[in-house]
Amino acid sequence: MKKPQDLILVIFGASGDLTVRKLIPALFNLFMKEQMPEHFVVLGLGRTAMDDEHFRQQMESGIERYGKNKGQAPDRKAFCQHLHYSSVNPSAQADYAIIKEKLEALERKCPCEGNYIFYMATPPSMFEIIPQYLQAHGLNKQGSSLPSRLVVEKPFGVSLESARTLNRKLQNYFDESQIYRIDHYLGKETVQNMLVTRFANGIFEPLWNRNFVERVEITSAESIGIEGRGAFYDHIGALRDMLQNHLLQLLALVAMEPPSQIDATAIRNEVVKVFHALRPIKEENTAKQVIRAQYSPASSGGKPLAGYLDEKNVRPGSRTESYVAMKCYVDNWRWGGVPFYIRTGKRLTNKVVEIVIHFKETPHRLFCPVSSELNHNNQLVIRIQPDEGIVFKFNMKVPGAGFKAQAVDMNFNYSDLGNAYISEAYERLLLDCMNGDATLFTRGDAVEAAWKYVDPVLAAWHHNPEIPLYSYPAGSWGPTAADELMEGENTAWRKPRSVD
Ligand SMILES: NC(=O)c1ccc[n+]([C@@H]2O[C@H](COP(=O)([O-])OP(=O)(O)OC[C@H]3O[C@@H](n4cnc5c(N)ncnc54)[C@H](OP(=O)(O)O)[C@@H]3O)[C@@H](O)[C@H]2O)c1
Repeated sequence: MKKPQDLILVIFGASGDLTVRKLIPALFNLFMKEQMPEHFVVLGLGRTAMDDEHFRQQMESGIERYGKNKGQAPDRKAFCQHLHYSSVNPSAQADYAIIKEKLEALERKCPCEGNYIFYMATPPSMFEIIPQYLQAHGLNKQGSSLPSRLVVEKPFGVSLESARTLNRKLQNYFDESQIYRIDHYLGKETVQNMLVTRFANGIFEPLWNRNFVERVEITSAESIGIEGRGAFYDHIGALRDMLQNHLLQLLALVAMEPPSQIDATAIRNEVVKVFHALRPIKEENTAKQVIRAQYSPASSGGKPLAGYLDEKNVRPGSRTESYVAMKCYVDNWRWGGVPFYIRTGKRLTNKVVEIVIHFKETPHRLFCPVSSELNHNNQLVIRIQPDEGIVFKFNMKVPGAGFKAQAVDMNFNYSDLGNAYISEAYERLLLDCMNGDATLFTRGDAVEAAWKYVDPVLAAWHHNPEIPLYSYPAGSWGPTAADELMEGENTAWRKPRSVD
């Protein structure tokens, strides 16, 4: 990975949680791996009054507290010397003159020929205002070799209409090639490994279609609840928070056609084609194709777990889903008729993110009568979290007389790669953005296509209170109704352990 050109990274909302927990520790990791530019400055901005020293102290404690690599005190100090802070109000246009002056002053310290990244780590209400004022002050076009980049955090809209409006506004002020929409799932090593597993191995791709794949299962499960974020979450829910973005991105990586090359345009073109091929969910099919639910009070290990409605700042009687499972079809030549089951939820049994490719069963059950442990369907389990790796489940003869067969695992764990360091998602994404590589960022048309797919579900839920909102005990694997989504005899969701 090449070292990025000298630059100034400007973070709006730098007094917030994302900056201290994710962005600064990720930049510090890159610094320790000597992957930061030769000369760089991070300029934090926010309304909170702070000087450089106070900001540096806070960020240094953030590295110690949240960093994967905490380094030694002299490393942290050396890194923090690159950090600066200015107190400005991003809603006030006049303050952008201050930002511009500050950038000019910092350029004298760190000549970077106008190579700027503007990272919007603010609430989404600021995503339209900041780019407008940056453009008004000519800050959208800097850079002699790289244009300035604008990083947009999630959520990107709450509906198709709001995502479209946001896209149009951003694209008024910055060119699409300058806009980097974060989906931090795409920064995960194992998610990127999907592309390598599929397209660097001759054995998988011939099987990767409706002729050999029976179904695909994608799970993103969290064991925690909404953790005090009720005021935010209760207006969003699992479908908007997780499924529309992260799960559909994973689905696209599983389902996409091989790109002609590994670059931002080729890969993102294929992703968009998958979204366009998703079979629309009609209102009359919503109840049987999409299951929504809320967690109910339960106990785990003698400890009581609150139900969703008892969580702080959740509206009384709220019908916001903390769990959603959906059956999707990708209507194209490769996937015609293959169901993709995707689910996500809070307060489930384990924290796990995985993709399971279930292959079709053997055409003839030779060994069925002698083994109950036999699984006729091979499975390829791609573990994204927490133990990154790949498991291939297949059948082996049990040593001894007769032909007793049993399912066994062929297991690859990333941790087995010895000293291989698995980057944090934000680390990879920040590095790519610094290098001007948008491959792992979501393109505007893809965000809209994903919203176009889920919008009718949200509308059906809104208009039709008859569509059930199920409940599931906190700490369980979700509502039993989700099992009924599954087609076929004895077909059920996998119940993955945290460590498989
Ligand atoms: N935290 C995470 O782990 C995480 C994960 C995924 C995505 N995100 C996304 O990343 C963004 C930042 O997240 P965060 O958790 O850091 O947010 P946050 O703590 O709520 O806000 C970040 C900063 O934005 C500024 N701000 C708040 N309201 C503002 C307003 N009305 N006008 C101008 N500035 C305002 C505040 O700084 P001042 O008061 O100093 O101006 C605040 O410290 C959000 O869009 C969030 O959805 C966060």
